[in-house]
Amino acid sequence: MKGLILAGGKGTRLHPVTKAVSKQLLPVYNKPMVYYPLSVLMLAGIRDLLVISTPEDLPAYERLLGDGRQWGVSFSYVAQPTPRGLADAFIVGEEFIDKQPVAMILGDNLLYGQGLQPMLQEVATLTKGACVFAYPVRDPERYGVVELDGHGNVASLEEKPARPRSNLAVMGLYFYDSAVSEIARNLKPSARGEIEITDLNREYLRRGQLRVQRLGRGAAWLDAGTPESLLQAAMYVQAVEERQGLMIGCPEEVAYRKQFIGSGELRSLADRMGPGSYATYLRQLAEEAG
Ligand code: DAU
Repeated sequence: MKGLILAGGKGTRLHPVTKAVSKQLLPVYNKPMVYYPLSVLMLAGIRDLLVISTPEDLPAYERLLGDGRQWGVSFSYVAQPTPRGLADAFIVGEEFIDKQPVAMILGDNLLYGQGLQPMLQEVATLTKGACVFAYPVRDPERYGVVELDGHGNVASLEEKPARPRSNLAVMGLYFYDSAVSEIARNLKPSARGEIEITDLNREYLRRGQLRVQRLGRGAAWLDAGTPESLLQAAMYVQAVEERQGLMIGCPEEVAYRKQFIGSGELRSLADRMGPGSYATYLRQLAEEAG
């Protein structure tokens, strides 16, 4: 399975912070925001990755992430000329996707919790249909909202409904089969002029091919698109990392634990990074391995 990281958009809810810097490159505590969603795709075992951002910001992602060899993965890059909607990712990424199953994660979504890795690995074996994730939130009207019936089947799916039919938000992590680009190309823009991921998911629902996986209290799902949520995300990461001495969303660690790279490579990544606490963490990891 291939993977897309969507890291474009205007970031207007964070202006003026995002006037000169891409939102998904802002720090969430001790690392760039994009490291968190990237780590999620790597945990799912996905190593062939496409980063999508604006034409202005894409070079900064290339500087940060390179070709991926240092982490045992591969990064390609493509610009989204205008923010036409989330489903546009499957059109600008069509050549990269090359009629393979594909996962997409939004560059401002943080996901963390026990048992995620096996679940993600299982979903990443998908070859038919689509899979999305539902998470209970206090303010569902801000999100795509899914309503489930008593059997766990989808009763309705709506984008930012004024009167939500449930408290289950659809997270910014999506898995699709090889039909996704063609379906995206046939979508009509919504009232706000975007081709909506929710309309894409509704088409899979219409075909009887949409699976919804519920996540509960054991998982933390945060987005970081406003000043408040950005600070909350940073404080969450700091609290957990300080307590456990383990990092959240560290791609070097994921690469090492998934055996995309060995301890020697991990040590040299740390050495190239210099003396900071992030490098110290990587060095300790490499040393534990002997
Ligand atoms: O976070 C999950 C939610 O993401 C879902 O529940 C919604 O169904 C989905 O529509 C989306 O809602 P948002 O209001 O968060 O979408 P937003 O327009 O803010 O875009 C999400 C991210 O994607 C944002 O960081 C910018 C980036 N983006 C957005 C658009 C429309 C792009 O890179 N390109 C785009 O064309």
